Amino acid sequence: MNAHLEPTPSPLALARSEILDLKPYEHASWEPALERLHANELPWRLAGDATAAGLNRYPEPQPRALVERLASLYGVSPAEVLIGRGSDEAIDLVTRAFCRAGEDSVIVCPPTFGMYAVAARIQGAEVVRVPLDAERGFALDERAILEQSARGVKLVYVCSPNNPTGNLASEPVLLHLAEALAGRALLVVDEAYLEFSGAPSLARHVATHPHLVVVRTLSKAHGLAGARCGVLIAVPEIVALLRKIIPPYALTQPTIETVLAALEPGRLEEARGRVALIRAERERLRDALSGCAGVVRVLPSVANFLLVEFRDASAAFARARAVGLLVRDVRSQPGLGRHLRITVGTPEQNARLVAGLARGPA
Ligand SMILES: Cc1ncc(COP(=O)(O)O)c(C=O)c1O
Repeated sequence: MNAHLEPTPSPLALARSEILDLKPYEHASWEPALERLHANELPWRLAGDATAAGLNRYPEPQPRALVERLASLYGVSPAEVLIGRGSDEAIDLVTRAFCRAGEDSVIVCPPTFGMYAVAARIQGAEVVRVPLDAERGFALDERAILEQSARGVKLVYVCSPNNPTGNLASEPVLLHLAEALAGRALLVVDEAYLEFSGAPSLARHVATHPHLVVVRTLSKAHGLAGARCGVLIAVPEIVALLRKIIPPYALTQPTIETVLAALEPGRLEEARGRVALIRAERERLRDALSGCAGVVRVLPSVANFLLVEFRDASAAFARARAVGLLVRDVRSQPGLGRHLRITVGTPEQNARLVAGLARGPA
């Protein structure tokens, strides 16, 4: 809870004034009870169109049914939900709405997901790096974040569980950061891999921490990376601001229908079963890799990937390729000069990887 006696300043005080003043594009009104002669669409469905609503029609912007389902999935209110094309779009929108080119900056905590810095650079915002503390299991350096955030920082990005290190950030530290940054910067917590950890989401704290923004995705645990659907969870003022700059028809009709179907109770149960399988495989793969010649160590991970240090990461990369498997080379990230990131696959893929690493290059 916020310990200050004075009221928390509105996070909108940090937003770009041009965006606050922007009059958004007025899309064709959404009135499904009436026939549409107001959006310059064709009146006929095309042969082979299997969607319920028809691909000849523009989709409903921020479709109400989907917003409500996702709000209930994440335990927040519909006004706290913005849906976009993957969490990549959420990251892009929040950067564009809050960072003034050439003036503002964002904090990222490497080694971490690369899109935070890319979105900032696209926007012309400076990127300030506050590395994770490898000695403390890649924990956040809270003191350094607070020190650095004094200088024109608008956003602090934290990935939890972190890609590629696989560890969770401490919830008390994140909540303290969100409180300490109030009036200065937003704390954006990317929970793309949270389902694989079993830990609770920070989303339940958004209502009491208006400077906290949580990002979720359907791409990982829900198996819908190809559908492109991500969710930003924030206080309604931030959601309303970002709705002004998200393209009016960000979500395609096939995506809307696919995701709605995936959120039916039976399908959610299946998704939970797949997550349990991946978690079990992650531990099996971790044990198997730990015993492989050439592996220095496998870092503990609560996500659906493992970060592995090799004696010779180039050779390991080539061995994986030789058995038909791509793994991620993360050696350009600070402190990871001999590491590869390996996604947990099917039991067969994981066994093939371990056998390939043991065998040597083809
Ligand atoms: C930490 C993290 N955040 C966000 C994303 C992007 O996910 P989405 O498919 O939702 O855009 C990824 C993708 O790998 C990721 O690793």
